[in-house]
Amino acid sequence: MKILTKAVIPAAGLGTRFLPITKSMPKEMMPVVHKPVIHYVVEEAYHSGITDILIITGKEKRAIEDYFDMENGLIPNKYLSELDSMLKKLNIYYVRQKGIRGLGDAIAHAEAFVADDSFAVLLGDTITQPPCLKELIQIYKKLHCTVIAVEKVPPEMICNYGIISTSEDANCESFVIDDLIEKPGVDEAPSDLAILGSYILPPTIFKYLKQTVPDKNGEIQLTDALKLLAKNERIVGHIYSGRRYDIGNKLDWLKSNIELSLVDPEIGKEIRAFLGGHFDD
Ligand code: G1P
Repeated sequence: MKILTKAVIPAAGLGTRFLPITKSMPKEMMPVVHKPVIHYVVEEAYHSGITDILIITGKEKRAIEDYFDMENGLIPNKYLSELDSMLKKLNIYYVRQKGIRGLGDAIAHAEAFVADDSFAVLLGDTITQPPCLKELIQIYKKLHCTVIAVEKVPPEMICNYGIISTSEDANCESFVIDDLIEKPGVDEAPSDLAILGSYILPPTIFKYLKQTVPDKNGEIQLTDALKLLAKNERIVGHIYSGRRYDIGNKLDWLKSNIELSLVDPEIGKEIRAFLGGHFDD
């Protein structure tokens, strides 16, 4: 059994919720304390043992490639040297999605990179603390199948997510997923368990992506391909209990800056004092 070494990070989305900022800057480059969001995502992959990363980019995303260039110590800066030492141990590749045609279509661009290996998918605009991928890899090592992270969401949020159904106890470390539905109405949702954007997928997903019919907006949804896969292969879910920030959402982006700055060794103390002393030890 091969260990998991490859990750795909879709980062081609337009970031319309952040307009006008995203007129000239990818949403994945939005700063969270000292680093852009996508830095956290690459770090999560790196700390989970991933060595090869494919970032799916698109129009106006060149800043991401520039960011992951090495500076080789030319500019003395603690954060740059930390980034450089991670980059030394990673191979990062890029492919451009040909138009905005959904998450499934973005993943389909990774077929040549993935070849015959299972691989992780991490969304380019989502931070998880502690790293969700580490938990998924532990389950993958035991079960050798597709693993999807989910979290419980309130009814009014269901229509924003892929929702899974299971007949097993979802409170176990992992449970078999029977079916998945992309962004259902609250009345048709089979549960309140939402796909949060961290996956371990098998190479057979590409076969199912090719069979997937575009949705009403002309987009190929990864959830629809997983629905086909679930009919033939085992998919397990895992409830992630850490903190997830969806940076495509303004409120979550602000919350991530507040919460992560509170625990930052350099500025945490001053931020706690600034916020009124409520957070002093
Ligand atoms: C995508 C997936 C959806 C998942 C969500 C997590 O949707 O299609 O199943 O629940 O990410 O953020 P998007 O947010 O790209 O519309």
